[in-house]
Amino acid sequence: MTRKFFVCGNWKMNGSKKSIGELIQTLNTAKLDPNVEVVCAAPAIYLELTRSELDPKFSVAAQNCYIVPSGGFTGEISPAMIKDCGMDWVILGHSTRRHIFGESNEFIGQKIAHAQENDLGVIVCIGETREEKEKGITDQVIFAQMKAIADNVKDWNKVVLAYEAGWAIGTGNAASPQHVQQIHAKVREWLKNNVSEAVANSVRIIYGGSVTGGTCKELASQKDVDGFLVGGASLKPEFIDIINAKA
Ligand code: G3H
Repeated sequence: MTRKFFVCGNWKMNGSKKSIGELIQTLNTAKLDPNVEVVCAAPAIYLELTRSELDPKFSVAAQNCYIVPSGGFTGEISPAMIKDCGMDWVILGHSTRRHIFGESNEFIGQKIAHAQENDLGVIVCIGETREEKEKGITDQVIFAQMKAIADNVKDWNKVVLAYEAGWAIGTGNAASPQHVQQIHAKVREWLKNNVSEAVANSVRIIYGGSVTGGTCKELASQKDVDGFLVGGASLKPEFIDIINAKA
């Protein structure tokens, strides 16, 4: 089965109207591999600006959402609002949300269920911290995250899984292509055993953690790497090289 290469630039809490406008200009005028699905995840306050200026061939994602449609939840945004403003995707379970804001597997599962009820595509992050890696519990951590995800997904066609090597994020040193391939293959095997072979074959598993123009090609050549979740490099013109990693 062919899985369309998927590259999401996660701008995190970065940018201004000016810098985002410049980045959008770069993207709109770049020569891009047409076989790649590209998504930009903007800070909530810049979502509509991004959607209105970015060429419609790109999708736009929110970086988080809450578990109910509306109510007294100061500071939160709902999937209904994200859809209402024209976005197609939301990132959930990012390592920032898990480890700085203390979101549990169960809470992330609730977010996935509610986002799917609103027909929003979900880019769901999994991955281990440095400490978990050193303890040798990477598989255990990832499979527990996967169970909470699978218990809540209704439509796997609208799910992209992002493996983030927590210990590689923002360091400038990506995980090795061999490590990434090994984890992605294990996640696919888990899906085969716990969801279905069809889902295991069709779900895209992308990698995040210091992907750069220099490292993307070898990572992209791995059998089970279907794209990237890019942080720092998505704010630079080098993001174009990452989108074109397979060209
Ligand atoms: O969302 C993106 C990942 O956290 C990777 O970020 O490319 O800055 O390491 P990074």
